[in-house]
Amino acid sequence: MTNMILVTGATGTIGRHVVRLLAAQNEPVRAMMRDISRAPRLPGVESVTADFDDPASLARAADGVDSVFLLTVPASPTPTQDLAMLDAARKAGVTRLVRLSAIGTGERDDTGATVGVWHGQADDAVRDSGMPWTVLRPSVFASNVLWWTDAISNGQPVPNVTGTATQGIVDPRDVAAVAVAALTSPGHNERTYTLTGPELLSVADQAAVLERVLGRSIPTVDLSLESAKEQMLSHGQSPAVVDASLIGMGWARAGHNAILTDDVARVLGRPPGSFESWAQDHRDLLS
Ligand SMILES: NC(=O)c1ccc[n+]([C@@H]2O[C@H](COP(=O)([O-])OP(=O)(O)OC[C@H]3O[C@@H](n4cnc5c(N)ncnc54)[C@H](OP(=O)(O)O)[C@@H]3O)[C@@H](O)[C@H]2O)c1
Repeated sequence: MTNMILVTGATGTIGRHVVRLLAAQNEPVRAMMRDISRAPRLPGVESVTADFDDPASLARAADGVDSVFLLTVPASPTPTQDLAMLDAARKAGVTRLVRLSAIGTGERDDTGATVGVWHGQADDAVRDSGMPWTVLRPSVFASNVLWWTDAISNGQPVPNVTGTATQGIVDPRDVAAVAVAALTSPGHNERTYTLTGPELLSVADQAAVLERVLGRSIPTVDLSLESAKEQMLSHGQSPAVVDASLIGMGWARAGHNAILTDDVARVLGRPPGSFESWAQDHRDLLS
C-alpha cells in the first residue's frame, strides 16, 4: 500500500498548496491537470493529465490511488464533473475522499433560493459514496483580492458587491493545510468543516488592510447585484453560472456569511492566518 494521493485542481489556488504541503511531508502525490506544461516541479510529485469531462482520463488518473482531494471547477454549476470523478475513484478502490465545497452550501438567501446547489449535490454524492469522506466548506479566500490587481495598479476603485457585510476571509494556505490533515491523519472521517479566518472583514476593511500593506490609497465602489450580473454576462460567463454566483453574493450581501468558526484551529492546532498576513506575503502580486 503506497497511500498514493490524487490532487485534482493541482494548478489552482488550493490544489497547488495541497500538492506542496503533501510533498513537504514526503507523502506520495499525483497532481492532476489538463496541461502537463503546468505540472508542479517538486521532487517526488507525479503528474497526470486528465479532464473532468473525459471519464477515461479520470480512470487513468485514479488508477492505483488510495485518497483523492476533489475540487469542483468554479464555472461548473452542475455536479456532473464531481460524479465522474467519484465514479473513477470508486472503481479504483479509493478509501479516502476530501472534497472542497463552500460555506453557505444549502442555505437559503432572502428570496428563498438555495446557495451552492451544485456544491450541495456533490457533497451529498460524496457522503453517499460509500467511501470515507471529509467535506471542507471554506469562507471567501483572501486571494480573491488578486482580482483587484488591475484596478489597484491603475488607481481605480475596487468593486464591492457585498456592501457593508462582513465575512470570515480565510487564507487559502490554511484551507490546503486542513485538506492535508484530512488526507493524511485519522479523526476526520464523516466531518464537515467550515473554514474561516480569525476575523470578520467587509470589503472596505480589506481595502484598508491593503492600504496599510501597500502604502497607497485603495478606494472602493459599490456595485449592485444587477450591475455585477451585467458585468459577468458581458465577460462571457454563462447565465447558469451567473445566476448561481448571484445567489451566493446576495446571501453574503445580506450579512448571512458573517460567520467565524474555530475549525481551522481545531484541526491544525494553531490559529488561522489573518488577511493582513496573507497580504504581507503576497504584496508583490498585488501591485
Ligand atoms: N474563491 C473563493 O472565495 C471560494 C470560497 C469557497 C469555496 N470555493 C470553491 O473552491 C473551488 C475552486 O478552487 P480553486 O480556487 O482552488 O480553483 P481555481 O484556482 O479556480 O482552479 C481551478 C482548477 O480546476 C482545474 N480545472 C479546470 N477545468 C478542469 C477540467 N475540465 N478538468 C480538470 N481540471 C480542471 C484547473 O486546472 P487546469 O486549468 O490547469 O487544467 C485548476 O487547477 C470552487 O469549487 C469554489 O466554489 C471558492
